[in-house]
Amino acid sequence: MRALGAILLGLGLLIFTSATAPGQSQRASGLSPAEREFLERHWRRPIPPQGEAPEGFTPVESSLAPADCGSCHPVQYADWQSSIHSKSMGPGVSGQLVEMIRSDPAGARSCPACHAPLAEQSPDLLGPGGLAQNPAFDASLRRQGVVCAGCHVRGHQRFGPPPRAGSVAAAPAGAAPAHGGATYTTAYLRSEFCSSCHQFRPNGLSLKGKPLENTYEEWRGSPAARQGLHCQDCHMPDRRHRWRGIHDPDMVKSGVRIRLATDKARYRPAETLRATLTIASVKVGHYFPTYVTPRAVVRVELLDAAGAVVPRSVEERVIGRQVTLDLSREIADTRIPPGGRFTLRYARPLDQPGLRLRVTVTVFPDHFYTGFFEALLAAGAGQAEAELRQALEETRRSAFPVFAREVPLT
Ligand code: HEC
Ligand code: HEC
Ligand code: HEC
Ligand code: HEC
Ligand code: HEC
Repeated sequence: MRALGAILLGLGLLIFTSATAPGQSQRASGLSPAEREFLERHWRRPIPPQGEAPEGFTPVESSLAPADCGSCHPVQYADWQSSIHSKSMGPGVSGQLVEMIRSDPAGARSCPACHAPLAEQSPDLLGPGGLAQNPAFDASLRRQGVVCAGCHVRGHQRFGPPPRAGSVAAAPAGAAPAHGGATYTTAYLRSEFCSSCHQFRPNGLSLKGKPLENTYEEWRGSPAARQGLHCQDCHMPDRRHRWRGIHDPDMVKSGVRIRLATDKARYRPAETLRATLTIASVKVGHYFPTYVTPRAVVRVELLDAAGAVVPRSVEERVIGRQVTLDLSREIADTRIPPGGRFTLRYARPLDQPGLRLRVTVTVFPDHFYTGFFEALLAAGAGQAEAELRQALEETRRSAFPVFAREVPLT
């Protein structure tokens, strides 16, 4: 139990100090004053309860449930359902919360700020008289994580990006617009819209001078930012709501270019093979990968004529920001900066016929959590056991290859 407590405390501390800080990065960005003012109001934490729906709203217009938004916005709903935002209160998060609510209640209350941000998603709210039960709490909404209304609805009013021609069916002439219409702002097109959840504040947990979650600042220094590409341009192309990232093989392949070169086409026995693997980050708008939880593993080895791995021929490299399970220390940071490249040079004398070179690059999107959930379970997870087991299985299943090649040598 002691180990469990220590781990949870580490995470709780990190979150608590980060989520209570004000809305936006202190440094100047290209936001207009109107956009900045909108974002500060929009992402005030906690988000105030929506209150009573305006008179004349039908039940479906008053509803905050994504399925009800989806009855009129089916494309966004189907996309969102397939996205990780709709799973951000999955078994990994809610399993951790079971124990944390007892051991570190303040820390546990800070997680929904990003994982289920509406007031209606929290069972109790901090008021002037302390913590009070929330009459508007909706347990089903909580389970659905980062819901549509978390990004689009405040006080039952809809906010969104400036409309594009034909993007939504217009209300028939003369009829009242659905949900009283919407207020449009270009703030929805900006990376700063995403940063309130994807960037820890300067007073949040940092290791080696870098916030544990630093995606927005990484983006600000990237070639993509200089070209005017925002998070949405890569993660919401054509305004789609899929938010593909490190869990999606095609998305990863779209961001990196992997090349393998050997110094010769064929080798005679006793010659030396020189091979070079490069991974160039060509269209990733931040470090590859940005967070501490994923890693990519590069493996180079020789196979003999029977297909067996030649002893001592294996070389492995990890690409990732490796931290200890209690988040107290950074072990190494071998991530690829945006626009940068990783290079592995491999040299081996070849001493037999039938040799082949095998190179693989495998992505483990949830690597940190595999070890973390194993540690929680080993320490005794009590009531959270079933959920954490399911979460652990999911982290083990999420790995995939992004590159695999075999080259005949001798
Ligand atoms: C009864 C159908 C209906 C429901 C339910 C509905 N909408 Fe809409 N929504 C519309 C229509 C129609 C528009 C087009 C704009 C207008 O009429 O001003 C719209 C516009 C919007 C816009 C502005 C985007 C644009 O291109 O105009 C956003 C954002 C939005 N809705 C979000 C939501 C969310 C989030 C929910 C659920 C909490 C929701 N809507 C529920 C019908 C609906
Ligand atoms: C209300 C908080 C919040 C906002 C706002 C938000 N996100 Fe997220 N996002 C999350 C959380 C929480 C997760 C992790 C969910 C999980 O894995 O359980 C996440 C995950 C992601 C992922 C991860 C995909 C992967 O493969 O791991 C991407 C990509 C992403 N968000 C992009 C964006 C973009 C782009 C924006 C701005 C348009 C945005 N997010 C706005 C909270 C938010
Ligand atoms: C400042 C916003 C923020 C807060 C507060 C926050 N998270 Fe997250 N969390 C994220 C984002 C964003 C991701 C996805 C990161 C990425 O992939 O870059 C994430 C990912 C995760 C994941 C991995 C995904 C999964 O579903 O298994 C877990 C677990 C998690 N958070 C747990 C917590 C817990 C527990 C707390 C509270 C102690 C918490 N988070 C508080 C933003 C936040
Ligand atoms: C994490 C924040 C986030 C969530 C969750 C989210 N949206 Fe959006 N939505 C955005 C952003 C950002 C844009 C603008 C993207 C752009 O222009 O590149 C947008 C655009 C829209 C638009 C305008 C589309 C167009 O073609 O003009 C509608 C309608 C909409 N969202 C509805 C929804 C509905 C319905 C849901 C839930 C099923 C949802 N959104 C969930 C952030 C979000
Ligand atoms: C130029 C395109 C591009 C831009 C701009 C961009 N991303 Fe990404 N993003 C990617 C690609 C490609 C991946 C998959 C590879 C990876 O995980 O780094 C990714 C992965 C992610 C992930 C998965 C987690 C991880 O550890 O990598 C998150 C979260 C994310 N992006 C959030 C954001 C946010 C927030 C912004 C804006 C501040 C942003 N991205 C800007 C291309 C982009």
